[in-house]
Amino acid sequence: MNVSLKSKLPHVGPTIFSVMTQLANEHNAINLSQGFPDFTCPASLIERVNFYMKRGDNQYAPMAGLPILQQQIAAKVDNLYHLTLNAAEEVTITSGATEALFCAIQTVIKLGDEVIVFDPSYSYEPAIILAGGKAVHLPLITPDYHIDWEAVRQSVNSRTRLIIINSPHNPTGAVLTADDLQQLSQIVDKNDLFVLSDEVYEHIIFDQQSHQSVLRYPDLYQRCFVVFSFGKTYHVTGWRVGYCIAPPILTSEFRKVHQFVTFDITTPLQYGLADFMKSDPQHYLNLPRFYQQKRDLFCRLLANSKFTLVPSQGTYFQLLEYSNISEQGDVDYAKTLTVEAGIAAIPISVFAKQPIEKKYLRFCFAKDDTTLTKAAAILTLL
Ligand SMILES: Cc1ncc(COP(=O)(O)O)c(C=O)c1O
Repeated sequence: MNVSLKSKLPHVGPTIFSVMTQLANEHNAINLSQGFPDFTCPASLIERVNFYMKRGDNQYAPMAGLPILQQQIAAKVDNLYHLTLNAAEEVTITSGATEALFCAIQTVIKLGDEVIVFDPSYSYEPAIILAGGKAVHLPLITPDYHIDWEAVRQSVNSRTRLIIINSPHNPTGAVLTADDLQQLSQIVDKNDLFVLSDEVYEHIIFDQQSHQSVLRYPDLYQRCFVVFSFGKTYHVTGWRVGYCIAPPILTSEFRKVHQFVTFDITTPLQYGLADFMKSDPQHYLNLPRFYQQKRDLFCRLLANSKFTLVPSQGTYFQLLEYSNISEQGDVDYAKTLTVEAGIAAIPISVFAKQPIEKKYLRFCFAKDDTTLTKAAAILTLL
């Protein structure tokens, strides 16, 4: 019997993250490719989750999330961004930011709708295609990877429905400014658009800059789905817990999708996270300093290398430009670097639809200082 299935995502293969991680494993390379920490989360967080598992809190949680966790998130948003949320109606706990992004896109996008994304960009496009929409790729403008708002204005048409922003930005480490958000606000207001704001690196921002969350702008927020990740904030990417904040009307539609994607999220994890947020509110306040120290160490150790770099402004990624070292394109050079030097990184052309003229690789510095020191010593010899 011949079984055939026409792919809904014919251009999607294994992600570059799986490819590079597998290559790194095969060659015993230091893996600075995929974005995850090689250090553990706070012991008290594990202790709290264990406590609730042992206590027997192991059955379904409410579909939108445990009220106690929704309330902790609302309190944090009030404290950081001075926005008062109705926790029950505006906060939904999701399976990582990934599920929140997927559900928000399915909630808003119908057949033929257009979504503006900025390249290089995280992988939003498959969810847009599955919803029947079309991604319109606008390049970020080098050298600082800012958004060309005039190009956005010119790209908006009657089919445009959603703009996706991401700050701090993976893979470039760029951050949006208050002026960017004013421009965004004007455009979405004038054209009646929605915004999906990916803020998973909200606490990983450097040099005393303050994160420009869309939650700081109450009018803009009325059109926004805002996505966060406990994985990034508490070094637990494998737990798959995140959340989406949106005004009640948007949230009620979002939950219609969410309830048929995952329904709910692991109960003892939610209890443990709620306890931890309450007992240790300092943790996320210390993250900028914690990661800035790692960024500075990595950049300092590379000062005498042939790589060219501009220190990342946020996220736990650093771009390195390698045109003084190799003529290869970035995908090939990433493979060469893994096989021959034993360091795995991510080529940034895979984040963009248009060819990227410069030669950049993305390195994750969410690693122990000893790992960073070892990697930098190798990179400096190239
Ligand atoms: C920009 C961006 N958005 C979303 C995600 C997904 O986050 P999560 O692991 O919570 O699903 C990532 C993870 O790397 C990311 O870099």
